[in-house]
Amino acid sequence: MMSETNTRTAHLYPPGPDEPYSPTQDLLSWMNNYFKRYGNIYKASVYGSSVYMISAPEYAEHVLRKNWQNYKKGMAIKRIAWLLGNGLMVSEGEFWKRQRRMIQPAFRHDAIGALSHVITAANLALLERWKEAAREKKSVNATRDISRMVAESVLMAIFGVDYEHVRPHFSILTDESARNLQFAEEFRSLGKIVSRVAAERRKKNIKSTDMLGMLMEARDRDSGQIMPDRQLVNETMTLIVAGHETTASTLNWVWYLLSQHPEVEEKLWRELDNVHASELPDLNDLRRFAYTRHILDEALRLYPPGWLMTRRALKDDHLGDYFVPAGTEIYISTYHIQRHPELWEAADCFCPDRFGPDFSQERHPPTMLPFSVGPRNCIGEIFARLEMQIHLMMIAKQLRLGYDEKKPPELDAAVNLRSKYDFVMIPEIRASGNGYETHQREQRLEGSTFNSVS
Ligand code: HEM
Repeated sequence: MMSETNTRTAHLYPPGPDEPYSPTQDLLSWMNNYFKRYGNIYKASVYGSSVYMISAPEYAEHVLRKNWQNYKKGMAIKRIAWLLGNGLMVSEGEFWKRQRRMIQPAFRHDAIGALSHVITAANLALLERWKEAAREKKSVNATRDISRMVAESVLMAIFGVDYEHVRPHFSILTDESARNLQFAEEFRSLGKIVSRVAAERRKKNIKSTDMLGMLMEARDRDSGQIMPDRQLVNETMTLIVAGHETTASTLNWVWYLLSQHPEVEEKLWRELDNVHASELPDLNDLRRFAYTRHILDEALRLYPPGWLMTRRALKDDHLGDYFVPAGTEIYISTYHIQRHPELWEAADCFCPDRFGPDFSQERHPPTMLPFSVGPRNCIGEIFARLEMQIHLMMIAKQLRLGYDEKKPPELDAAVNLRSKYDFVMIPEIRASGNGYETHQREQRLEGSTFNSVS
């Protein structure tokens, strides 16, 4: 689709509607209509800015990877900056690069692998609650329960032995589903909890191997300095927010999709029946369970939480033949790329088998980019994948969740792609799902890798 430079026509602009986007319209449906009318790129006025909307992987590749240095985060990041300060999601340039280098070790394969037991513990508690509901023939609010499990996993990963102290303060993450100004104000005020934990650890000379501990120890490669306290707070709050809603939302969609596709559920059970009851999955096991991974990929394809990535051109550029003046906003619709009828067969169908051995994640240009691509891709991908796969394996081995509502869920395409309403599900105990025993949970917790060294 991208032609070579010598055939470019300078100052050719993409087609697009004359009338600006109105904030009363649903952005995703509005984009649907115009991609159908204009193709993979169109130009429109959105919130007073000139925006190029794109749904072609070639253009995404150009903006996110090939010429990424010419693009900073778009205007929409201002709202996130207000909530999270200048953390990794928001920062730019040299400062971002230094911070990313300092934070990266906390997300390396071995560091994440050590978190399996934390995730397993959070899921064992959830499994027991849902089994109890199944026995009593009660429905569960899966959205709320999954949100709590994910919050528990991410807070335990970050705060380790201090988790119990911080937990009550962060209940707003799961008890409040609105993401409005009031939420932002309350959440921002929790920065002081992070500061307090860090100060206490410094005072007592506690060096912990949890994520906060790793961030506190990280040193800038050139200056040898640690992060100032304010930045430590910004980065920690960023990880909590970025790691919570995205993962929780994907798992919600997974359960909904499974409830609508018994043939997929059957195939999943066949794979899980190869897991012994005493075997609790860890990072090294996950590759073996290919179908479980394909289900997660397919849910991420159909409902990518980060459905829209926005950038702003720093200097003039081109996307194919189209001229991109400096200052243009680019909206990259992961949602539309991942459901593009020319890129995917039966694009709207839930069909995990499409990720079988013939599919390469490394397709160029990328047709699958739920964690983005290029230098600013998701730092938490391995953690999120570990969390989602352990959850699905542990729960689906023993339970199935039925969806009781007659009408299909509605999309809420805001910062993340969520369902408008909570998923209320009916858990049933699977006949052949042999159980994880409670004493194994205790063993796992005792074997915690969060060694605090005083
Ligand atoms: C299913 C789960 C997740 C999905 C789909 C997801 C998706 C994404 C995407 C699309 C971006 C790029 C945003 C942009 O450039 O505009 C991103 C960035 C980021 N994500 Fe995730 N994410 C997930 C889980 C996590 C987790 C668990 C963490 C951490 C605990 C995390 C931390 C971050 C951070 C810090 C960034 C900014 C990276 C940078 O700019 O250097 N994410 N994520």
